[in-house]
Amino acid sequence: MICLGIETSCDETSVAVWSQENLLKEITHTQISMHSVFGGVVPELASREHLRKLDTLISLLQKELGSDLFSRLDLIAVTRGPGLLGALLVGIAYAKSLALGLEIPIIGVNHLHAHLLACNFSAPITYPALGVLVSGGHTHIYQMDSAHSFILLGKTLDDAAGEAFDKIGKILNLPYPGGKYIDLLGQRGTANSKIFTKPYLNNDNCDFSFSGLKTAVYNFIQKNEIPALNYENLNLEAVPQQVRDLCATVNEVIVETIVEKTRRALALCPKTRTICLAGGVAANTLLRQRVDNFAQTRNINFLAPPQNYCGDNAAMIAYAGIQLARCNQSSALDFEAIPRGQLFPDDYISKPLS
Ligand code: KG4
Ligand code: ZN
Repeated sequence: MICLGIETSCDETSVAVWSQENLLKEITHTQISMHSVFGGVVPELASREHLRKLDTLISLLQKELGSDLFSRLDLIAVTRGPGLLGALLVGIAYAKSLALGLEIPIIGVNHLHAHLLACNFSAPITYPALGVLVSGGHTHIYQMDSAHSFILLGKTLDDAAGEAFDKIGKILNLPYPGGKYIDLLGQRGTANSKIFTKPYLNNDNCDFSFSGLKTAVYNFIQKNEIPALNYENLNLEAVPQQVRDLCATVNEVIVETIVEKTRRALALCPKTRTICLAGGVAANTLLRQRVDNFAQTRNINFLAPPQNYCGDNAAMIAYAGIQLARCNQSSALDFEAIPRGQLFPDDYISKPLS
């Protein structure tokens, strides 16, 4: 089975082709430099850039994999949501046209589930699993009973973990998106976990709330006169110790909050055999270490995608498409995009691949 994957949910335009168990090629164009001037993703610009780039990336795929690529495709998988509506629509309209023209099935993939299934890129997931999905837009914990059975156990009530990292990065004047820089600077500093309270632990649920943390960090910076950085030529080694220590503390607080909620979710799912950590924030060094350590103490497998497949990519979309197709699932051609905040419908149609 050969599947073309298309991802345009946010600020990466990405295309990829999977053949059975092998990723044949993935090409990603990131829009980070375009949005960094604004300190965040500008939805309208993102959609326009996807429109400008998508067809070029598909042509590059054909160049790499052969001009007969289209005739070899069995399936098209495209991110259906959650994401930015305009951005999603670009990928979906392209994918639908292609599927219609080639007369092959199409699958609208849940972006969050695809992130978690990318743990299979490292080693096979043994089910039941616990899925800890931490990205720029979402922080979700799922019970995963199979590649297509996800039960939501907890989610963020406001900012996602990646959003918290990025907003704190902005306060510190770090390059956008700040998560990676807080990770790198934190590795060069010493955490003091007494400075900030770990947010939203004073309850017994698996939900998150990170929005108060950025305010606490802002107030701390004002009070302690932490120097602002010049990110034009950011030299990590030259960053003042105070800033590195603050980054280490922010890392510690966010990571330990995620570990604690994972511990609670595990109590709800005692049969768990694997903890899957995925999404852009799963690239965080401390988070990978701590969740891995926690899993080891419980004799559970730990899996995360390779660091270069934690962020948005079409390889995970094509892969998820193949997993769904193997269960005879596909989408009707008139499926709609699902923007962030809207419930992802369970409306796959049962259709064996010819
Ligand atoms: O999954 P993703 O690529 O996009 C969404 O679907 O949201 O996640 C992007 C998020 C950003 O907030 C980015 O700052 C964060 O992942 N991120 C990190 C690291 N690398 C990327 N956060 C913390 N530490 C990192 N090393
Ligand atoms: Zn994502």
